Amino acid sequence: MDVFRIEGPVQLSGSVALSGSKNASLPMMAAMILAPGESSLAGVPRLSDIAVLSELLEQLGCRVDRSANGDLRVDSTTVDNPVGDYEIVRKMRASICILGPLLARCGRVEVSMPGGCAIGDRPINLHLRGLQALGARIRVENGYIVAETPKGLTGKEIFLGGSFGSTVLGTANVLMAATLAKGRTVIESAACEPEIADLANCLNKMGAKISGIGSPRLIIEGVKVLRPAQYRVIPDRIEAGTFMAAAAITKSELKLRNCRLDDMMAVVDKLRSIGATVERDADGCVVARSGAIKPADITTQPYPGFPTDLQAQFIALLSLADGNSVVIEKVFPDRFMHVAELNRMAANLLKEGPAVIVAGVKKLMAAPVMASDLRASAALVLAGLAAEGTTTVNRVYHIDRGYERIEEKLNPLGAKITRESV
Ligand code: EPU
Repeated sequence: MDVFRIEGPVQLSGSVALSGSKNASLPMMAAMILAPGESSLAGVPRLSDIAVLSELLEQLGCRVDRSANGDLRVDSTTVDNPVGDYEIVRKMRASICILGPLLARCGRVEVSMPGGCAIGDRPINLHLRGLQALGARIRVENGYIVAETPKGLTGKEIFLGGSFGSTVLGTANVLMAATLAKGRTVIESAACEPEIADLANCLNKMGAKISGIGSPRLIIEGVKVLRPAQYRVIPDRIEAGTFMAAAAITKSELKLRNCRLDDMMAVVDKLRSIGATVERDADGCVVARSGAIKPADITTQPYPGFPTDLQAQFIALLSLADGNSVVIEKVFPDRFMHVAELNRMAANLLKEGPAVIVAGVKKLMAAPVMASDLRASAALVLAGLAAEGTTTVNRVYHIDRGYERIEEKLNPLGAKITRESV
């Protein structure tokens, strides 16, 4: 198992190119099931989560590989084993995004029910309700969702909001299934995340008829067939936000390339109120901090609110603020595994229900810490860059799920991170 040894504190400088979005790539790869033939996606990052979904698509009967220029090719000419195996789904919850497209393509599917994970229970009731509204018959048998469409899928008006707002992958599943349903589907309270807009744009390129893209009301006119397509995924806004936090926590200036600032207004707003500057330029932006970190209150929300996927990294940043901050988690109220680990690094965080009170400290101190989920691990790396001494982050396989070579991107900027196998 790999660990990171991070020497701190460091100052960073220079420029970094961001990768394509993991959370746009995953449902888009699943979307290729809808269009028999070879599609190709540019900008898909090389991450272990992408490898897991590739393996799952291959089990279904597809061929997945990289072309010479690095594009991910999915050949879905054959999809003859519509089973989402437990052994793969348990590795990555996002595997559930095959459910909608597989059902639309094959008419009968079995997909392992995903369990909970380090960030909470993560139910899929809304995915199932949406697909049932389109005419699917669904039951759970031996831990598997068995879904059938004896009469095919038919368009419907569907309200997809839940107690925690919209659902990203639930919207993706229903949207993908609806592209091939008979007639018109309206998804109300659809997720507005840029990754869903990107998926919808890709589906339209494949011949789907989706309007309202980017809004909470998606309208889908079903079509008979979709065709393979070439498409480039958007840059990863969560990787971008993590590098912005890296610049801010180390009192540095970084230029981010391949960054879409328009997808990140809530994050930019928080960075500015914390005392950082964020300047737009041709290919991205320049982020810098020179003065003290000012405290800030953050509430995570579905897009366009502040993303839950940056909550942990911003708690690490605010732990060095000149005063007290409150961070409230409204998307995954249990997503706080990093709090105890950051406290081991001399942060002063108090968790109270879905909120954390962050009492700013003057400095963080290195410690051995445990990565628990992807974003919590990124927060520990950020803390390690700013802390005095050598921080050891255990279980970095969590980071590899969602950050492409994070140490190889940070080290040329001035970080001192070594990866060791232990
Ligand atoms: N929810 C329900 N019922 C459902 C689905 C969701 O109650 O059927 C609840 C969830 O429990 C949660 C809220 O709705 O409280 C939002 O969950 P959502 O379904 O939007 O999450 P997701 O689609 O499973 C995606 C990202 C996550 C990201 C969330 C929220 C992918 C592959 N995953 O998950 O990304 O945190 O949206 O933005 O797109 C990550 O990249 O580290 C990550 C966890």
